[in-house]
Amino acid sequence: MLRHWHVSFLSFCFFLLFLFLFLWTPYDEISATRTFSVDLINKTCKTCSDKSTVFNYTFCSASLQEIPVSRTTNLQGLAIVAMELTLQNATHTLSVIKELRRNETWGHPFASACLRDCDVLYSDGVITLVDAVAAFLEGKYGSAGAWLTAVMDGATTCEEGFGDMEEASPLTEQNYSVFQLCDVALCIVNLLVSHA
Ligand SMILES: *[C@@H]1O[C@H](CO)[C@@H](O)[C@H](O)[C@H]1NC(C)=O
Ligand SMILES: *[C@@H]1O[C@H](CO)[C@@H](O)[C@H](O)[C@H]1NC(C)=O
Ligand SMILES: *[C@@H]1O[C@H](CO)[C@@H](O)[C@H](O)[C@H]1NC(C)=O
Ligand SMILES: *[C@@H]1O[C@H](CO)[C@@H](O)[C@H](O)[C@H]1NC(C)=O
Ligand SMILES: *[C@@H]1O[C@H](CO)[C@@H](O)[C@H](O)[C@H]1NC(C)=O
Repeated sequence: MLRHWHVSFLSFCFFLLFLFLFLWTPYDEISATRTFSVDLINKTCKTCSDKSTVFNYTFCSASLQEIPVSRTTNLQGLAIVAMELTLQNATHTLSVIKELRRNETWGHPFASACLRDCDVLYSDGVITLVDAVAAFLEGKYGSAGAWLTAVMDGATTCEEGFGDMEEASPLTEQNYSVFQLCDVALCIVNLLVSHA
């Protein structure tokens, strides 16, 4: 219970931070900025998808454009947006897991054990994402990348848990989104490291 509260509180703090960054953006030539921003998004997604076979260009481009912020005019801004989207997705996934656990009947002990593991993994994931953002804002890109990798490992471990028990995973879509969004953030962080 306390842990759950802790996670919600962290998400809330992050939301405030994001809101601050959003409001802080000057209202300059929005439309010109927007075109520039989409160009940067597409270019970045292309660079990332050329580096990896798992990376989904369409997903990357569509996800980053969901945030209509002129803040996405540089790689740092894009990385923040990607991490914010990952945090939203992971937080939502956690609430889906909690609901599935509440709805459970006694009939599926294996799925129940898997869900319990996923609950821990995604709770840790949300906290780890906040750590990743904190490290990123301090310019510690290496640490941010390590935290993001840990979140991807957590989503994978959750998803594999069901496979190992030969249970159908109720979280396959969530794994896909969280993993891909995290991969977007990680790729951008790595680009910043190699540019530095
Ligand atoms: C960016 O990519 C999206 C999706 O692939 C595409 O629909 C859009 O036209 C592209 N925009 C620019 C400015 O390249
Ligand atoms: C890539 O992402 C798009 C948009 O989310 C999705 O429709 C498509 O199925 C994905 N492609 C693959 C290969 O999973
Ligand atoms: C998770 O990410 C996908 C892709 O960006 C998006 O379509 C979906 O709405 C997100 N879900 C939540 C709850 O943020
Ligand atoms: C949990 O049960 C309620 C009521 O039966 C249902 O509306 C809801 O969709 C279920 N949630 C999940 C995640 O299956
Ligand atoms: C989780 O989703 C990613 C794509 O986002 C996929 O590559 C990976 O295989 C999935 N994990 C499992 C265990 O299915």
